[in-house]
Amino acid sequence: MTSSEVKQTYARSQRPTPVDGYPTSTSTLQTATENILLKQLLDSSRIPGDASPPSTTGPVLQRNQHLQFLLRNLLQGFPQRYVSQDASQPWLLFWTLQGFSVLGVGLDDKIKKRARETLLALQHPDGGFAGGPGQFSHLLPTYAAVCSLAIVGQPGQSGAWDAIDRRKMYDFFMSLKQPDGSFLVSHDAEVDVRGIYCLLAVATLLNILTPELLAGLPEFIVSCQTYEGGFGNASFPEWDFQEENDEVTRVPSAPRPVLGEAHGGYTFCAFASWVLLQPYIRSYYTPAGSANTNPTIDYRALLRWLANMQGTAIELGGFKGRTNKLVDGCYSWWVGGCFGLVEGLLGIHAAPPASTGVNENSASTTADTSAGGASDDGWHDADDALLNRRALQEYILYAGQHPAGGLRDKPPKPADSYHTLYCLAGLSAAQHRVTPDETRRAQLLERWNAGEARQWDVSGLQNLITDQQARADALRKDVFASTLSWLEDEGADEYIGGSGNRVNATQPLFNLTVTHTELMMAHFYGQKLPPRQAKTPPKSK
Ligand code: FPP
Ligand code: ZN
Repeated sequence: MTSSEVKQTYARSQRPTPVDGYPTSTSTLQTATENILLKQLLDSSRIPGDASPPSTTGPVLQRNQHLQFLLRNLLQGFPQRYVSQDASQPWLLFWTLQGFSVLGVGLDDKIKKRARETLLALQHPDGGFAGGPGQFSHLLPTYAAVCSLAIVGQPGQSGAWDAIDRRKMYDFFMSLKQPDGSFLVSHDAEVDVRGIYCLLAVATLLNILTPELLAGLPEFIVSCQTYEGGFGNASFPEWDFQEENDEVTRVPSAPRPVLGEAHGGYTFCAFASWVLLQPYIRSYYTPAGSANTNPTIDYRALLRWLANMQGTAIELGGFKGRTNKLVDGCYSWWVGGCFGLVEGLLGIHAAPPASTGVNENSASTTADTSAGGASDDGWHDADDALLNRRALQEYILYAGQHPAGGLRDKPPKPADSYHTLYCLAGLSAAQHRVTPDETRRAQLLERWNAGEARQWDVSGLQNLITDQQARADALRKDVFASTLSWLEDEGADEYIGGSGNRVNATQPLFNLTVTHTELMMAHFYGQKLPPRQAKTPPKSK
């Protein structure tokens, strides 16, 4: 058979999503997308059974084109079409700077200095960061600004870290707090789990996480999980009312309905928040089994939903953000990134690559390793991660890359900075395993310097009675050790197309590298970090 006959046979063997004879805009768009993705795969790869000599061993990460794309935006400024992002200026910087970090490229001092100045100009006099000069502060650009500063900043006034007004940031956060534990995203605005994630990530990095800030938050997060298993954007604050003696009051015990449908973006934010809340839940809630049970989420339903968001072979194994919608490169991170968090929190370990297994969802040529062990491109198909890591890499590399540089939602869309970062971060999540390491946690707890840490307190809790102070200190210590215990298990890396496609690992809680996270947290918690040792090999469960 000629190469083109092989491709035609392969195309016919792919199973499209069934249609029922009553076309809707959803089903029509789904079919059109599947055709586009299949064509993209056939045009850019070898497929099973094709005996013609391969031009490459698999899809190639067009690293240089992506770097040029990021650099062009950074040095020449963003093109006119980004005008709609006027209130997202720290985000444009974060997507670009973290894009460089994932690609393993450091920035020169001049670029870093310019980025620091741009970001500090967005700090609001009343705390937090705004999306643009003269705008109000808002939780979302605050996360983007602080994470960008983690990349380009350092200690000292000129390094920008000590120019972050943490006391005012804390007051800004507290001013957004709602009676149900949640937070507005900005003054006079709405409640949304995106804002809550941004607040928790920043408060963790800057050491301004206190029990008073966190009160009621676990219950709020729990209330955002939908019947599907993923999370919606918020939950209904006032639902069931009772009338007694002419007084109408809310029924506090009434189940609180979630607002909106389960979505990958909200699910990442809610679940990462849940993980960030674990030290607080550990020390401020009653032990499981007692009368007041801990707030809990339905992990089984969450995992089922997450797994079902991964597309089929004809969708090249990309992720969608919600049921019955289209695959999109950015969900490689928002949904793909959740698996590492679940594996890390529940201690689910992928088995070491040795036994048998065939990757059924794979779209590419090199999946046939029925005898187990590595395939001809070095892939170990015995990997038993909870997502199909190989298929996700295929989506990103075949469909996510724009030939002119930068990454995208799907062909034929143009590349943009947002999709460039979240496709690269998704590629990183599919290549690496970054999970908590008990040995590292124990080492950080043992070396904890409580006196230094308390110097950084912004809550005024150091002036409170001893018991409250001791609990707040214990929380700070647990937050530090738990967050920095997430390390890469280097033996669990898997790349399609060979190790030339390797990108850096990212810390799944923040989408920063482990090193940037460590440096910023060591500074704001007043700790000296012991050197990292090779990660303890995980025990299979
Ligand atoms: C739907 O868009 C998108 C949403 C409802 C929200 C998405 C939220 C995120 C991506 C999380 C952002 C996180 C932070 C930290 C700010 P759509 O209808 O265009 O897309 P869809 O068809 O794929 O759902
Ligand atoms: Zn997208």
